[in-house]
Amino acid sequence: MIKLNKKIKFHIAADGTSASGKTTGGKYISKYFGFKFLSSGALYRYCALKILKNNKKYNAELVKKIADSITMNDLNHNQLYDPKVTQLSSIIAKKAYVRKALKKFQINFIKNSRLAIIEGRDIGSKIMPKADLKLYFKCSIKEKAKRRLKEFKRLNKNISLKQVEKALIRRDGNDTKRKISPLIKTKNAVLVDTTKLRLKEMELKLLNIVKNSIINKYGNL
Ligand code: C5P
Repeated sequence: MIKLNKKIKFHIAADGTSASGKTTGGKYISKYFGFKFLSSGALYRYCALKILKNNKKYNAELVKKIADSITMNDLNHNQLYDPKVTQLSSIIAKKAYVRKALKKFQINFIKNSRLAIIEGRDIGSKIMPKADLKLYFKCSIKEKAKRRLKEFKRLNKNISLKQVEKALIRRDGNDTKRKISPLIKTKNAVLVDTTKLRLKEMELKLLNIVKNSIINKYGNL
């Protein structure tokens, strides 16, 4: 752990495909350097959960109401990671009014945090185009499906490797091919390919990238 100088103001955008390691990596950075952490996917998931509870019916007005009511505590529930919620979150994320309604929460989060990291799909391109550091995570589909399957097994979820792989391909397709705010690697984002990295190796790599980037801006930590 490091206690950064109080004068340091630093915002990190972490984007990438589903299950590429951006949440694990982002949480590690946040713990190590004392950054506030937001998984923007949880915002889409929360909306999807509320919509499911409303018999899958939704419109701009309802989504705005849900988005304006969200608190950080709402984003911590296991229910958000239910496969039905996961699937719907990726579908509603294609709608411009959904993205607009959830942008407000993310902008407020940044405004209120001296040190912040947000992970998602459009953070470096749309939410924080002026981030101090942009990271772009990727991982081969085979490897990330294996890792996700392990997590499901730990939670006693009965699902096959093929099913996990298919669901990830579908979600990545939705995110990269959509017209509005598709997942892209911005020109200045640092690529973090986690395919061949063990957890400790990824952590070390991230630590160095973040340290160097802060030193680049402030001359020290
Ligand atoms: O990252 P996570 O898997 O929790 O995100 C859930 C869904 O929300 C993704 O499949 C994606 O479609 C959507 N999402 C998005 N833009 C973000 C974060 C998530 O479209 N910034």
